[in-house]
Amino acid sequence: MSEERYLTFALTKGRLAEQTMELLGKLGVTCREMNDKHTRKLIFVNEERKLKFFLAKGPDVPTYVEYGAADLGVVGKDTIMEENRRVYEVLDLGFGRCRMCVCGPEHAEELLKHHERIRVASKYPGIAKDYFYNKKHQTVDIIKLNGSVELGPLVGLSDVIVDIVETGSTLHENGLRVLEEICPLSARIIVNQVSMQMETTRIRELISALKNGGLI
Ligand code: PRP
Repeated sequence: MSEERYLTFALTKGRLAEQTMELLGKLGVTCREMNDKHTRKLIFVNEERKLKFFLAKGPDVPTYVEYGAADLGVVGKDTIMEENRRVYEVLDLGFGRCRMCVCGPEHAEELLKHHERIRVASKYPGIAKDYFYNKKHQTVDIIKLNGSVELGPLVGLSDVIVDIVETGSTLHENGLRVLEEICPLSARIIVNQVSMQMETTRIRELISALKNGGLI
């Protein structure tokens, strides 16, 4: 019988990776070397289950999965939408819940209502473009930022922003509010399209264990 090959997971560094490993731990899959906070290792192996894990920046996770460098990935829905890669999205893990919203000062509500040609700052220009052009049929100017996007309307760079809202405290502390909700977000499992065909049984078992609990 041919030897079972490793299934490789690309995990989004930080909270999503920690929550994924916590969930897998409950299903009996552990990876001791990953718990060492000081390690500089990049790839972690669970020999018993023939699983490999590596940590990557969120936007790179769908890239690794599309090219087959990872069979599976754990990444936020926001990143899946923005990167628009050819991968299967197979499971909502239910954690990392937040919302993608159009936010700004109260007076920007009027600009939105009247379909004015406004400036929209975002770390997610693809999502912002799709929302304003395809869903709202509103022509806007989109400005790409790389973080602290709430600054946009505060310093006069943009009228509104398209950004993630979790607790709402960043908006609140800066005198901004949610003006429109685009969609709910959470962590998802994505799968490489070829791996899904070649390793159907193992991947399906893994997904159903993650969905329903139970040992893998
Ligand atoms: C995210 C997001 C908001 C904030 C929302 O930023 O872009 O700024 O969190 O969270 P809240 O609703 O709980 O306040 P992040 O902390 O990832 O950093 P960034 O601004 O550099 O993107």
